[in-house]
Amino acid sequence: MEYADLLIENHGKVVVVRLNRPKAMNALNDNMMNELGEALRKFDKDPAINVIVLTGSEKAFAAGADIAAMANYDYQETYGNNYIGRNWEHILDIRKPVIGVVSGYCLGGGCELAMMCDFLIAADSAKFGQPEIKVGVTPGAGGTQRLPRAISKSKAMDMLLTTRMIDALEAERTGLVSRVYPAAEVMEESIKIAQGIAEMPVSVAMQIKDCVNQAYETTLSQGVAYERRYFHAGFGTPAQKEGMSAFLEKRKPDFEGL
Ligand code: CAA
Repeated sequence: MEYADLLIENHGKVVVVRLNRPKAMNALNDNMMNELGEALRKFDKDPAINVIVLTGSEKAFAAGADIAAMANYDYQETYGNNYIGRNWEHILDIRKPVIGVVSGYCLGGGCELAMMCDFLIAADSAKFGQPEIKVGVTPGAGGTQRLPRAISKSKAMDMLLTTRMIDALEAERTGLVSRVYPAAEVMEESIKIAQGIAEMPVSVAMQIKDCVNQAYETTLSQGVAYERRYFHAGFGTPAQKEGMSAFLEKRKPDFEGL
């Protein structure tokens, strides 16, 4: 299927979903968010896909929500028609791993969307910021909630109140991103990482994602109990039989379809 604001590339069991509104620095509008939700849900159901990579362009992952589109919104349009809630958070329902790859600007709603990915890989050109205060609003897609959890209250308040952007190295140092690569190599390296994950049993990858997400919603003991149920249930699955037999037989496991 063709999308107006997304480009799709297939790399075996990995699909790359690229935000594509180059004239507006990938500013996130309703059409793009509708298409993104649709594409992510489609690939989540596709048995040929194990891992989704979400990225933007070399210049911008996304420079935020589309200011031109929302400048004239009123309370009825935002609250009444559930702006943001209506189409930004489909990514949170995706059960397969979603890796965000960030080059260039990753600002406002762009940074919030990136933080909804399971983990982030950055190009050395990446710049992260939450400049919403400068356009007279609070963040609206979780910036005040996910950023302090990712990088500490002090760093998050600094970014949110001063609009200071942090570069890729500061983002890695503070834990917002997991790895940094030179801009020219970041996609190739990220696809290799995604393909490595895609060789693992996708069912277990989905369970790990579900467990880690529980860590943000429950107490420690409830989270550990949640994990333990998956661990015990794992002993009734072909992935566990194949993984442990392959180890004992000193061969590479074959998790195809598992
Ligand atoms: N919305 C709409 N259009 C945007 C945009 C945005 N968030 N960001 C950039 N653009 C557009 C510009 O208007 C410009 O369009 P024209 O060529 O038609 O004038 C084009 O993209 C290129 O941008 P610049 O000329 O500004 O490029 P630059 O290199 O000088 O600056 C930038 C780049 C620092 C990213 C700057 O564009 C900028 O500050 N953008 C806005 C960032 C921002 O405030 N984001 C937060 C939005 S609010 C939000 O996201 C709410 C939420 O929490 C959900």
